[in-house]
Amino acid sequence: MENEITKAVEILKSAKKVTVLTGAGVSAESNVPTFRGKEGLWKKYRAEELATPEAFKRNPELVWEWYGYRQKLVLGCDPNPAHEVIARMEKYFDDFMLITQNVDGLHERARSKKILELHGNLFKARCTVGRMIIDFTLGDDPLPKCESCGALIRPHIVWFGESLDPMIIQLAVEHSEKCDTFLVIGTSALVQPASSLPLMAKRSSAKVIEINPDSTPITRYVDVSIRGKAGEVLPRIWEKAGIEKVLLKRNE
Ligand code: OAD
Repeated sequence: MENEITKAVEILKSAKKVTVLTGAGVSAESNVPTFRGKEGLWKKYRAEELATPEAFKRNPELVWEWYGYRQKLVLGCDPNPAHEVIARMEKYFDDFMLITQNVDGLHERARSKKILELHGNLFKARCTVGRMIIDFTLGDDPLPKCESCGALIRPHIVWFGESLDPMIIQLAVEHSEKCDTFLVIGTSALVQPASSLPLMAKRSSAKVIEINPDSTPITRYVDVSIRGKAGEVLPRIWEKAGIEKVLLKRNE
């Protein structure tokens, strides 16, 4: 692993335009469960009963119960050193974008600002009729309604079978194609279109660095594959690259 870390450090030292894609693995060390691992959520729960438009039509109360449960779970977790290093990166590189598949809001809590949330956010909801998006945490009402029109509101999450926001995906593609360095961290790379972003970056001549304890379908295409935990590997890379010192000087 040392060799790979050294390679990643060299790439980052000369990087100018950096794009990062994260998945559930970046929050694993914050104790937020991933989806597909041994203890993954989709091993215990059936996605088609909880995370599809049909499920919401059939049983909105059950779907809200599931999202209320996940909101509570995440509220009991804190960002970890991986979230923190990613937030520092955005202050250092002038051209930076974080693309996340995560809906847990931990990147925002670590103070990331340049962020594209591909799959929505657990703490947002929208009206099923008017489409207005609001900040929302489930309270006592098991079937929350829109304050302005009284219609049901739904979690602001991209469910299975739904399309991503075209504006967000367009920006994600642009940042994947224009960067010189692309980091892909903590994703099984099994869900489209997110999983094709690192390959788009590669085709546009970016160096692609993957951080994941396991191999994924994209591992064989990346330039550097670091088999380790994001919360341990990222702080080591950051420290070795010596970038933090430059950043501190710049802010003096
Ligand atoms: P997955 O649960 O599919 O994959 C998590 C990945 O994180 C796996 O490849 C693990 O090996 C890796 N991992 C585990 N611990 C890690 C650590 N400490 N550091 C780094 N990596 C670690 O999660 P995603 O790829 O994010 O969709 O799943 C994609 C989408 O599928 C999610 O956004 C979600 C789900 O259905 C929605 O919520 C719409």
